[in-house]
Amino acid sequence: MQLTTILTTALLSSVSLAGTFKTLSKSKPSPALTWNVTNFNTSCTSGDCTYNFHIAGQGTPNTPGFNTTCTGATGKEDYQPCGNEQISAIVDPAKSSSRWNVEVQHTWVKGEAQFWAVGSSNATAPAKRFNITVDEQYGVA
Ligand SMILES: *[C@@H]1O[C@H](CO)[C@@H](O)[C@H](O)[C@H]1NC(C)=O
Ligand SMILES: *[C@@H]1O[C@H](CO)[C@@H](O)[C@H](O)[C@H]1NC(C)=O
Ligand SMILES: *[C@@H]1O[C@H](CO)[C@@H](O)[C@H](O)[C@H]1NC(C)=O
Ligand SMILES: *[C@@H]1O[C@H](CO)[C@@H](O)[C@H](O)[C@H]1NC(C)=O
Ligand SMILES: *[C@@H]1O[C@H](CO)[C@@H](O)[C@H](O)[C@H]1NC(C)=O
Repeated sequence: MQLTTILTTALLSSVSLAGTFKTLSKSKPSPALTWNVTNFNTSCTSGDCTYNFHIAGQGTPNTPGFNTTCTGATGKEDYQPCGNEQISAIVDPAKSSSRWNVEVQHTWVKGEAQFWAVGSSNATAPAKRFNITVDEQYGVA
């Protein structure tokens, strides 16, 4: 939530810099979106951890589909781009458990409007597969 707020603020300020008035909308994705994660894995050397996973999202009339690989260092504050740069991820060690908090963001442009969707899940590593349910979708138009 907090990250989304930061992102929203950043996006809105860039929008106002452009000098045009645009509106931010927030909604539950419709139809509902579920992203499939496979081959989730983490690897740590003396406290520095990296992650690796495949993620695919089916396209809907409102959302482009994707299928890409995400690799990066855990514990970053900013979303790190995946192979397909419309997809980005933050992977954090989950507090008080041996799980990983996996946060994924999908951004896309449709006409003049910009959209993004975010979802998260708590995963154990290595995990063959798990789902991420998209919680919120945002649009600026
Ligand atoms: C996870 O990554 C480590 C380091 O790259 C590798 O040794 C291990 O085989 C991987 N595990 C799975 C299940 O892919
Ligand atoms: C995700 O997996 C489910 C079954 O586990 C499947 O029905 C669905 O089509 C998959 N979606 C994608 C985008 O691969
Ligand atoms: C994603 O791509 C991989 C390899 O390119 C393929 O094996 C897999 O079936 C694809 N998944 C979907 C949901 O398209
Ligand atoms: C992940 O675990 C944290 C507690 O460690 C919880 O607050 C959060 O809701 C969980 N997220 C999901 C998507 O289940
Ligand atoms: C993932 O979601 C699909 C529906 O989209 C469901 O059929 C499948 O059982 C779920 N898989 C897991 C591992 O939860």
